Amino acid sequence: MQGRRTTWSQLPRGAVLSAEFLGNSAAAKKIPRISEAGQLHWTQSGRSALRLAFELEGLGEGDAVLLPDYYCPTMVSPVVAQGATPVFYPLSDGLPDLSWLTNWLANSGGGKPRKSVLLAVHLFGIPIDFMPLQTLAQQHGISLIEDCAHAFLGSRNDVAVGASGDYAIASLPKFFATTAGGVLRINRTAKTTNVSSIGFTEELRGAWDLIQASVHAGHWSMLRPAFAVLYALRGGTSNAQQTTRSTDLETLTEEAVREHAMHDPQLTLTRAKDIDRFIVRHSRYDRIAAARRRNYELIVGALQDRADLVPLRPALPQGAVPYVVPFLSTQANDDYAALRRIGFPVYRWDRFWPGAAPNRDDWGRRVLQISCHQNLNARDIEDAAGALRIRRN
Ligand SMILES: Cc1ncc(COP(=O)(O)O)c(C=O)c1O
Repeated sequence: MQGRRTTWSQLPRGAVLSAEFLGNSAAAKKIPRISEAGQLHWTQSGRSALRLAFELEGLGEGDAVLLPDYYCPTMVSPVVAQGATPVFYPLSDGLPDLSWLTNWLANSGGGKPRKSVLLAVHLFGIPIDFMPLQTLAQQHGISLIEDCAHAFLGSRNDVAVGASGDYAIASLPKFFATTAGGVLRINRTAKTTNVSSIGFTEELRGAWDLIQASVHAGHWSMLRPAFAVLYALRGGTSNAQQTTRSTDLETLTEEAVREHAMHDPQLTLTRAKDIDRFIVRHSRYDRIAAARRRNYELIVGALQDRADLVPLRPALPQGAVPYVVPFLSTQANDDYAALRRIGFPVYRWDRFWPGAAPNRDDWGRRVLQISCHQNLNARDIEDAAGALRIRRN
């Protein structure tokens, strides 16, 4: 669907099932992806995959996981659930500060954390060079986790995402029309895991939600009359229509952030739904990659006249398959609210963990992650740029 949507509520918040991005082809198989090698364990979420990695590492009380100081709580909660301690390291323009890490690792002996694990992220879906991190991890005899939550697809200098860490994890709904899901890839000795299964009713509910969201966003038009009858019989609206578009910038205390994240059902070690695995396996990675790259460039182009909304990575490197377009905003609260008001998918990592050192550049508050997912079209992007313009006039 390339035209203007009839209502803002039709704008898909994430990827939805559409024929264009489903199917098997030789071209799709050529796109590098985390799931193309290693031993794979499919989990109910990326956080569940992280937790599984920590469990396989045997992490527990007194151990440490090194995490970037620009993060979302779902990266921290699996560490704490495992009984280990999160230690936040600084980023320098989005890259791990190697001298800080070297220094910390050199001085962390003497009975402080018993064991350490280093986690680094391909932020925004733009792969970073893991080589220096691999060297550092080897020198200190620690495991390296490659967080591909933003980079299910892609490569850098011909090294595929997911190939560099001892473990790699990903989050399925950030790239595919799945209800949820994550994956853990193990790049060294295969291990057995104990992950609980999901029930048949959950599978059915998942399939139903996916189809409903897709029809609501304007796909599978032949199913629309049947859905209209069903809604009328139920006397209400679809779940997809009920999506909230809150514009209030709710601030939570650090304790509330932690409390919320630790009671999250997606944190448990549970397997992914079969329907979600099926969708990932039968997706057109080539078309998803091309559409995301196109949308990234359209978004950068649509906002290029805004001196106070600057893209952190204006040029998309070859091989990158972006998750979002990161912008540094001088009026982040207003820009964030303007996009949320129209339901345009945008994220901000402004929920802080108790005791975490603040990011040097205040990215948590200042960076807006504007989605460039494959089911957005040029008109959607134009409209979003228009909404930002209105809020500035
Ligand atoms: C970098 C990163 N790692 C891990 C996760 C956790 O993934 P999930 O939401 O699938 O649990 C996220 C989620 O936003 C993330 O952004």
